[in-house]
Amino acid sequence: MEPADSPLMPRITALIRETGPLTFARFMELALYDEAHGYYTTGGGRAPSATSPIGQEGGDFFTAPSLSPILGKCLVRQLVEIDERLGHPPVFHLMEMGPGDGTLLRDLLQECQEQQVSLLPRLACILVERSPAFRRRQQETLAARQEQGVTIRWVDDLQSIADGSLTGTLLSNELVDAFPVHRVRMEQDGLRELYVTSRDHALQEQWGEPSTPELASFLSDLDVELPVGFTTEINLEAVKWIKQVAGVLDRGVVITIDYGHTAQDYFAPERKNGTLMGYHRHTVSTNPMTRVGAQDLTAHVNFSSLARTGERVGLTTTGFTNLQHFLMSLGIEELVEGCDQESEAVRAAARLLRPHGMGTTFKVLMQHKGLDVSTLRGLRHRAFFESALATA
Ligand SMILES: C[S@@+](CC[C@H](N)C(=O)[O-])C[C@H]1O[C@@H](n2cnc3c(N)ncnc32)[C@H](O)[C@@H]1O
Repeated sequence: MEPADSPLMPRITALIRETGPLTFARFMELALYDEAHGYYTTGGGRAPSATSPIGQEGGDFFTAPSLSPILGKCLVRQLVEIDERLGHPPVFHLMEMGPGDGTLLRDLLQECQEQQVSLLPRLACILVERSPAFRRRQQETLAARQEQGVTIRWVDDLQSIADGSLTGTLLSNELVDAFPVHRVRMEQDGLRELYVTSRDHALQEQWGEPSTPELASFLSDLDVELPVGFTTEINLEAVKWIKQVAGVLDRGVVITIDYGHTAQDYFAPERKNGTLMGYHRHTVSTNPMTRVGAQDLTAHVNFSSLARTGERVGLTTTGFTNLQHFLMSLGIEELVEGCDQESEAVRAAARLLRPHGMGTTFKVLMQHKGLDVSTLRGLRHRAFFESALATA
Protein backbone atom coordinates (compact mmCIF):
# COMPACT_ATOMS: atom_id res chain seq x y z
CA MET A 1 0.00 0.00 0.00
CA GLU A 2 1.45 3.36 -0.96
CA PRO A 3 1.08 6.30 1.46
CA ALA A 4 -1.63 8.02 -0.54
CA ASP A 5 -3.82 4.86 -0.48
CA SER A 6 -3.63 4.50 3.27
CA PRO A 7 -6.93 5.27 5.04
CA LEU A 8 -4.83 7.05 7.65
CA MET A 9 -3.38 9.58 5.23
CA PRO A 10 -6.40 11.95 5.11
CA ARG A 11 -6.43 12.01 8.93
CA ILE A 12 -2.70 12.71 9.19
CA THR A 13 -2.66 15.39 6.49
CA ALA A 14 -5.74 17.10 8.03
CA LEU A 15 -4.01 17.12 11.42
CA ILE A 16 -0.88 18.64 9.91
CA ARG A 17 -3.02 21.31 8.21
CA GLU A 18 -4.73 22.12 11.53
CA THR A 19 -1.83 21.93 13.97
CA GLY A 20 1.35 22.13 11.88
CA PRO A 21 4.04 19.46 11.50
CA LEU A 22 3.77 16.47 13.85
CA THR A 23 6.66 15.19 15.92
CA PHE A 24 7.82 11.82 14.65
CA ALA A 25 6.52 10.34 17.93
CA ARG A 26 3.01 11.69 17.24
CA PHE A 27 3.16 10.36 13.68
CA MET A 28 4.26 6.93 14.96
CA GLU A 29 1.50 7.00 17.59
CA LEU A 30 -1.06 7.54 14.81
CA ALA A 31 0.50 4.99 12.45
CA LEU A 32 0.42 2.29 15.15
CA TYR A 33 -2.47 3.23 17.45
CA ASP A 34 -4.91 5.54 15.62
CA GLU A 35 -8.36 4.55 16.93
CA ALA A 36 -9.67 3.53 13.54
CA HIS A 37 -6.70 2.69 11.31
CA GLY A 38 -3.57 2.24 13.46
CA TYR A 39 -1.44 -0.82 12.73
CA TYR A 40 -1.92 -2.35 16.20
CA THR A 41 -5.52 -1.13 16.56
CA THR A 42 -6.58 -3.07 13.50
CA GLY A 43 -4.19 -6.00 13.92
CA GLY A 44 -2.01 -4.96 11.00
CA GLY A 45 -4.89 -3.82 8.81
CA ARG A 46 -6.17 -7.39 8.60
CA ALA A 47 -9.75 -8.65 8.86
CA PRO A 48 -10.58 -10.03 12.34
CA SER A 49 -10.75 -13.55 10.90
CA ALA A 50 -7.39 -13.23 9.09
CA THR A 51 -4.10 -14.62 10.41
CA SER A 52 -2.30 -12.55 13.01
CA PRO A 53 0.34 -9.95 12.06
CA ILE A 54 2.61 -11.87 14.45
CA GLY A 55 4.02 -15.14 13.16
CA GLN A 56 5.75 -16.87 10.32
CA GLU A 57 2.75 -17.49 8.10
CA GLY A 58 0.83 -14.46 6.92
CA GLY A 59 2.45 -12.24 9.55
CA ASP A 60 4.69 -9.19 9.35
CA PHE A 61 7.14 -10.20 12.06
CA PHE A 62 7.66 -13.03 14.49
CA THR A 63 8.38 -12.92 18.20
CA ALA A 64 9.92 -15.47 20.56
CA PRO A 65 6.54 -16.87 21.76
CA SER A 66 5.29 -17.12 18.17
CA LEU A 67 8.32 -19.28 17.34
CA SER A 68 8.45 -21.65 20.29
CA PRO A 69 6.76 -22.45 23.62
CA ILE A 70 10.22 -22.82 25.20
CA LEU A 71 10.30 -19.23 26.48
CA GLY A 72 7.07 -19.85 28.41
CA LYS A 73 8.43 -23.11 29.82
CA CYS A 74 11.64 -21.44 30.98
CA LEU A 75 9.73 -18.51 32.46
CA VAL A 76 7.69 -20.87 34.64
CA ARG A 77 10.94 -21.93 36.34
CA GLN A 78 11.69 -18.26 37.01
CA LEU A 79 8.19 -17.63 38.34
CA VAL A 80 8.47 -20.59 40.71
CA GLU A 81 11.63 -19.08 42.21
CA ILE A 82 10.03 -15.63 42.52
CA ASP A 83 7.04 -17.23 44.25
CA GLU A 84 9.40 -18.87 46.75
CA ARG A 85 11.20 -15.58 47.39
CA LEU A 86 7.85 -13.90 47.97
CA GLY A 87 6.94 -16.58 50.51
CA HIS A 88 4.12 -18.12 48.38
CA PRO A 89 1.63 -15.23 48.63
CA PRO A 90 -2.09 -16.22 48.66
CA VAL A 91 -2.52 -14.39 45.35
CA PHE A 92 0.35 -14.22 42.87
CA HIS A 93 -0.26 -11.56 40.22
CA LEU A 94 1.13 -12.35 36.80
CA MET A 95 0.67 -9.27 34.68
CA GLU A 96 1.69 -9.40 31.04
CA MET A 97 1.86 -6.10 29.20
CA GLY A 98 1.41 -6.08 25.42
CA PRO A 99 0.61 -9.80 25.10
CA GLY A 100 -0.01 -9.85 21.30
CA ASP A 101 -1.88 -13.05 20.50
CA GLY A 102 -1.75 -14.27 24.13
CA THR A 103 0.63 -17.07 23.14
CA LEU A 104 3.16 -16.56 25.93
CA LEU A 105 0.55 -16.70 28.69
CA ARG A 106 -1.05 -19.75 27.07
CA ASP A 107 2.33 -21.53 27.03
CA LEU A 108 3.09 -20.49 30.60
CA LEU A 109 -0.25 -21.79 31.86
CA GLN A 110 0.17 -25.03 29.92
CA GLU A 111 3.57 -25.60 31.51
CA CYS A 112 2.23 -24.75 34.98
CA GLN A 113 -0.42 -27.37 34.49
CA GLU A 114 1.94 -30.01 33.07
CA GLN A 115 4.43 -29.49 35.90
CA GLN A 116 1.62 -29.13 38.45
CA VAL A 117 3.29 -26.11 39.95
CA SER A 118 1.82 -25.06 43.30
CA LEU A 119 1.57 -21.51 41.98
CA LEU A 120 -1.19 -22.29 39.46
CA PRO A 121 -4.26 -22.10 41.75
CA ARG A 122 -2.96 -18.84 43.27
CA LEU A 123 -2.34 -17.13 39.92
CA ALA A 124 -4.30 -13.99 39.09
CA CYS A 125 -3.44 -13.05 35.52
CA ILE A 126 -3.82 -9.51 34.22
CA LEU A 127 -3.32 -8.64 30.58
CA VAL A 128 -2.63 -5.02 29.69
CA GLU A 129 -3.55 -4.46 26.04
CA ARG A 130 -4.47 -1.25 24.31
CA SER A 131 -5.47 -2.77 20.97
CA PRO A 132 -9.04 -4.11 20.67
CA ALA A 133 -7.99 -6.41 17.81
CA PHE A 134 -5.24 -8.01 19.86
CA ARG A 135 -7.46 -8.22 22.94
CA ARG A 136 -9.91 -10.29 20.89
CA ARG A 137 -7.11 -12.58 19.75
CA GLN A 138 -5.94 -13.03 23.35
CA GLN A 139 -9.46 -13.85 24.49
CA GLU A 140 -9.70 -16.56 21.84
CA THR A 141 -6.28 -18.00 22.68
CA LEU A 142 -7.01 -18.10 26.39
CA ALA A 143 -10.71 -19.04 26.42
CA ALA A 144 -10.00 -22.70 27.20
CA ARG A 145 -7.82 -21.74 30.19
CA GLN A 146 -10.52 -19.46 31.56
CA GLU A 147 -13.03 -22.29 31.24
CA GLN A 148 -10.67 -24.39 33.37
CA GLY A 149 -10.91 -21.75 36.07
CA VAL A 150 -7.78 -19.63 35.55
CA THR A 151 -8.48 -16.01 36.52
CA ILE A 152 -7.62 -13.62 33.70
CA ARG A 153 -8.67 -10.01 33.50
CA TRP A 154 -7.95 -7.44 30.85
CA VAL A 155 -7.18 -3.74 31.25
CA ASP A 156 -6.46 -1.11 28.60
CA ASP A 157 -3.65 0.58 30.48
CA LEU A 158 -1.73 0.66 33.74
CA GLN A 159 -3.75 3.60 35.03
CA SER A 160 -6.62 1.16 35.52
CA ILE A 161 -4.60 -0.62 38.22
CA ALA A 162 -4.38 0.73 41.77
CA ASP A 163 -0.96 1.84 42.98
CA GLY A 164 0.89 -0.71 45.07
CA SER A 165 -1.74 -3.38 44.47
CA LEU A 166 0.30 -6.15 42.81
CA THR A 167 2.45 -8.91 44.26
CA GLY A 168 4.14 -11.21 41.78
CA THR A 169 5.66 -10.70 38.33
CA LEU A 170 5.14 -7.97 35.73
CA LEU A 171 6.23 -9.31 32.39
CA SER A 172 6.59 -8.00 28.86
CA ASN A 173 8.05 -9.31 25.64
CA GLU A 174 8.52 -6.87 22.77
CA LEU A 175 6.27 -4.22 24.29
CA VAL A 176 8.67 -1.33 24.78
CA ASP A 177 10.00 -1.49 21.22
CA ALA A 178 6.44 -0.78 20.04
CA PHE A 179 6.14 2.53 21.90
CA PRO A 180 6.22 5.70 19.75
CA VAL A 181 9.66 7.32 19.79
CA HIS A 182 10.99 10.80 19.14
CA ARG A 183 13.78 11.03 16.59
CA VAL A 184 16.59 13.49 17.24
CA ARG A 185 19.86 14.52 15.59
CA MET A 186 22.80 16.42 17.01
CA GLU A 187 23.87 19.31 14.86
CA GLN A 188 26.69 21.86 15.27
CA ASP A 189 24.37 24.27 17.04
CA GLY A 190 22.50 21.75 19.20
CA LEU A 191 19.83 19.06 19.29
CA ARG A 192 17.19 18.93 16.54
CA GLU A 193 13.99 16.89 16.39
CA LEU A 194 12.39 15.23 13.37
CA TYR A 195 8.89 16.33 12.38
CA VAL A 196 6.53 14.97 9.74
CA THR A 197 4.83 17.39 7.42
CA SER A 198 2.94 17.02 4.14
CA ARG A 199 3.23 18.49 0.68
CA ASP A 200 1.08 17.55 -2.34
CA HIS A 201 -0.50 14.70 -0.30
CA ALA A 202 2.91 13.16 0.40
CA LEU A 203 4.54 13.01 3.81
CA GLN A 204 7.89 14.68 4.23
CA GLU A 205 10.53 14.92 6.95
CA GLN A 206 11.41 18.24 8.45
CA TRP A 207 14.00 18.96 11.19
CA GLY A 208 13.23 21.57 13.82
CA GLU A 209 13.72 22.63 17.42
CA PRO A 210 13.00 19.94 20.06
CA SER A 211 9.31 19.87 20.97
CA THR A 212 10.08 19.34 24.66
CA PRO A 213 13.06 19.87 26.99
CA GLU A 214 12.53 16.27 28.13
CA LEU A 215 14.50 15.13 25.08
CA ALA A 216 17.70 16.88 26.19
CA SER A 217 17.05 15.79 29.81
CA PHE A 218 16.74 12.17 28.68
CA LEU A 219 20.26 12.32 27.27
CA SER A 220 21.77 14.27 30.15
CA ASP A 221 20.16 11.87 32.67
CA LEU A 222 22.16 9.12 31.00
CA ASP A 223 25.31 11.30 30.88
CA VAL A 224 25.27 11.04 27.10
CA GLU A 225 26.58 13.68 24.75
CA LEU A 226 25.69 12.84 21.18
CA PRO A 227 28.39 13.54 18.60
CA VAL A 228 27.50 15.96 15.79
CA GLY A 229 25.73 14.10 12.98
CA PHE A 230 24.35 11.34 15.28
CA THR A 231 20.67 10.50 14.77
CA THR A 232 18.86 8.42 17.37
CA GLU A 233 15.50 7.60 18.95
CA ILE A 234 14.31 8.75 22.36
CA ASN A 235 11.56 6.70 23.97
CA LEU A 236 9.87 9.02 26.49
CA GLU A 237 6.91 6.61 26.70
CA ALA A 238 9.23 3.93 28.06
CA VAL A 239 10.30 6.27 30.87
CA LYS A 240 6.66 6.95 31.72
CA TRP A 241 5.84 3.25 31.50
CA ILE A 242 8.55 2.02 33.88
CA LYS A 243 7.44 4.64 36.42
CA GLN A 244 3.86 3.34 36.18
CA VAL A 245 5.09 -0.25 36.47
CA ALA A 246 7.01 0.65 39.63
CA GLY A 247 3.90 2.38 40.96
CA VAL A 248 1.51 -0.57 40.64
CA LEU A 249 3.97 -3.12 42.03
CA ASP A 250 3.93 -3.71 45.76
CA ARG A 251 6.34 -6.66 45.94
CA GLY A 252 7.86 -8.69 43.15
CA VAL A 253 9.87 -8.72 39.96
CA VAL A 254 9.62 -6.91 36.62
CA ILE A 255 10.91 -8.91 33.66
CA THR A 256 11.36 -6.95 30.44
CA ILE A 257 12.38 -8.86 27.33
CA ASP A 258 13.08 -6.95 24.13
CA TYR A 259 15.70 -6.20 21.55
CA GLY A 260 17.90 -3.37 22.59
CA HIS A 261 21.11 -2.27 24.15
CA THR A 262 22.84 -0.66 27.08
CA ALA A 263 23.19 3.12 26.61
CA GLN A 264 26.83 2.62 25.73
CA ASP A 265 25.92 0.38 22.79
CA TYR A 266 22.81 2.38 21.89
CA PHE A 267 24.90 5.47 21.24
CA ALA A 268 27.86 3.62 19.69
CA PRO A 269 29.11 4.82 16.27
CA GLU A 270 27.55 1.84 14.43
CA ARG A 271 24.10 3.13 15.42
CA LYS A 272 24.71 6.69 14.28
CA ASN A 273 21.61 6.52 12.07
CA GLY A 274 19.38 5.20 14.84
CA THR A 275 17.50 1.91 15.17
CA LEU A 276 14.05 2.68 13.75
CA MET A 277 12.64 0.04 11.41
CA GLY A 278 9.43 -0.96 9.67
CA TYR A 279 8.23 -4.54 9.16
CA HIS A 280 5.77 -5.72 6.56
CA ARG A 281 5.43 -9.38 5.61
CA HIS A 282 8.83 -10.13 7.13
CA THR A 283 10.48 -7.48 4.96
CA VAL A 284 12.42 -4.74 6.67
CA SER A 285 11.80 -1.17 5.60
CA THR A 286 13.82 1.86 6.58
CA ASN A 287 11.08 4.20 5.36
CA PRO A 288 8.52 4.75 8.14
CA MET A 289 6.33 6.86 5.88
CA THR A 290 5.35 4.10 3.53
CA ARG A 291 2.40 1.72 4.13
CA VAL A 292 1.24 3.99 6.95
CA GLY A 293 -0.92 1.90 9.29
CA ALA A 294 -0.10 -1.31 7.45
CA GLN A 295 3.51 -1.76 8.55
CA ASP A 296 4.86 -2.22 12.06
CA LEU A 297 7.26 0.47 13.26
CA THR A 298 9.73 -0.26 16.00
CA ALA A 299 12.89 1.06 17.64
CA HIS A 300 15.42 -0.72 19.84
CA VAL A 301 15.08 -0.35 23.60
CA ASN A 302 17.50 1.62 25.74
CA PHE A 303 17.82 -0.66 28.77
CA SER A 304 20.05 1.74 30.71
CA SER A 305 17.23 4.27 30.64
CA LEU A 306 14.75 1.68 32.01
CA ALA A 307 17.17 0.59 34.73
CA ARG A 308 18.18 4.09 35.75
CA THR A 309 14.62 5.44 35.79
CA GLY A 310 13.52 2.34 37.69
CA GLU A 311 16.17 2.93 40.36
CA ARG A 312 14.75 6.40 40.92
CA VAL A 313 11.24 5.11 41.50
CA GLY A 314 11.93 2.15 43.76
CA LEU A 315 12.91 -0.66 41.39
CA THR A 316 16.25 -2.24 42.19
CA THR A 317 18.07 -3.62 39.17
CA THR A 318 18.39 -7.35 39.80
CA GLY A 319 20.41 -7.89 36.64
CA PHE A 320 20.65 -7.74 32.88
CA THR A 321 21.49 -10.48 30.42
CA ASN A 322 20.68 -11.63 26.92
CA LEU A 323 18.02 -14.13 25.84
CA GLN A 324 20.54 -16.88 25.17
CA HIS A 325 22.04 -16.68 28.66
CA PHE A 326 18.61 -16.24 30.24
CA LEU A 327 17.24 -19.40 28.62
CA MET A 328 20.38 -21.37 29.41
CA SER A 329 20.26 -20.21 33.02
CA LEU A 330 16.70 -21.50 33.24
CA GLY A 331 17.68 -24.90 31.88
CA ILE A 332 16.62 -24.82 28.21
CA GLU A 333 19.06 -27.66 27.54
CA GLU A 334 17.29 -29.98 29.97
CA LEU A 335 13.97 -29.06 28.44
CA VAL A 336 14.99 -30.18 24.95
CA GLU A 337 16.96 -33.21 26.13
CA GLY A 338 15.50 -36.41 24.80
CA CYS A 339 13.63 -34.61 22.00
CA ASP A 340 14.41 -35.36 18.38
CA GLN A 341 17.20 -32.84 17.76
CA GLU A 342 16.17 -32.55 14.09
CA SER A 343 12.53 -31.80 14.93
CA GLU A 344 10.86 -28.50 14.09
CA ALA A 345 10.31 -27.86 17.81
CA VAL A 346 14.01 -28.15 18.66
CA ARG A 347 15.03 -26.08 15.64
CA ALA A 348 12.60 -23.34 16.68
CA ALA A 349 13.92 -23.38 20.25
CA ALA A 350 17.47 -23.15 18.91
CA ARG A 351 16.57 -19.99 17.00
CA LEU A 352 16.02 -18.25 20.33
CA LEU A 353 19.60 -19.08 21.29
CA ARG A 354 21.36 -18.00 18.11
CA PRO A 355 24.52 -16.10 18.97
CA HIS A 356 24.24 -13.90 15.88
CA GLY A 357 20.46 -13.60 16.09
CA MET A 358 17.76 -13.54 18.72
CA GLY A 359 20.00 -15.05 21.39
CA THR A 360 22.10 -11.91 21.61
CA THR A 361 19.97 -9.12 20.13
CA PHE A 362 17.25 -9.83 22.69
CA LYS A 363 18.00 -8.76 26.21
CA VAL A 364 16.35 -9.45 29.55
CA LEU A 365 16.19 -6.86 32.30
CA MET A 366 15.04 -7.92 35.77
CA GLN A 367 14.13 -5.39 38.43
CA HIS A 368 12.66 -6.02 41.86
CA LYS A 369 10.85 -4.23 44.65
CA GLY A 370 9.93 -5.18 48.23
CA LEU A 371 12.08 -8.29 48.06
CA ASP A 372 15.47 -9.12 49.42
CA VAL A 373 17.25 -10.78 46.49
CA SER A 374 20.74 -10.33 45.17
CA THR A 375 20.13 -12.38 42.05
CA LEU A 376 17.63 -14.72 40.39
CA ARG A 377 17.93 -17.98 38.55
CA GLY A 378 17.51 -16.50 35.06
CA LEU A 379 20.60 -14.38 35.68
CA ARG A 380 22.91 -17.26 36.56
CA HIS A 381 24.79 -16.84 33.30
CA ARG A 382 25.25 -13.20 32.51
CA ALA A 383 26.32 -11.73 29.25
CA PHE A 384 27.22 -8.46 30.95
CA PHE A 385 29.12 -7.32 33.97
CA GLU A 386 27.28 -5.58 36.79
CA SER A 387 28.19 -2.11 35.58
CA ALA A 388 26.97 -2.63 32.00
CA LEU A 389 23.87 -0.52 32.49
CA ALA A 390 25.87 2.38 33.87
CA THR A 391 26.75 4.95 31.25
CA ALA A 392 29.65 6.98 32.53
C1 LIG B 1 5.26 -6.39 19.11
S1 LIG B 1 3.77 -6.89 19.85
C2 LIG B 1 4.40 -8.12 20.97
C3 LIG B 1 3.37 -9.15 21.28
C4 LIG B 1 3.74 -10.30 22.23
N1 LIG B 1 4.26 -9.83 23.49
C5 LIG B 1 4.70 -11.26 21.61
O1 LIG B 1 5.85 -11.32 22.04
O2 LIG B 1 4.30 -11.97 20.68
C6 LIG B 1 3.36 -5.53 20.90
C7 LIG B 1 2.11 -5.70 21.72
O3 LIG B 1 2.02 -4.62 22.64
C8 LIG B 1 0.71 -4.00 22.55
N2 LIG B 1 0.88 -2.62 23.02
C9 LIG B 1 1.55 -1.62 22.44
N3 LIG B 1 1.54 -0.51 23.21
C10 LIG B 1 0.87 -0.83 24.33
C11 LIG B 1 0.55 -0.13 25.53
N4 LIG B 1 0.91 1.13 25.71
N5 LIG B 1 -0.14 -0.78 26.48
C12 LIG B 1 -0.51 -2.07 26.30
N6 LIG B 1 -0.23 -2.79 25.20
C13 LIG B 1 0.45 -2.18 24.23
C14 LIG B 1 0.34 -4.22 21.11
O4 LIG B 1 -1.00 -4.05 20.84
C15 LIG B 1 0.81 -5.68 20.95
O5 LIG B 1 -0.09 -6.56 21.57
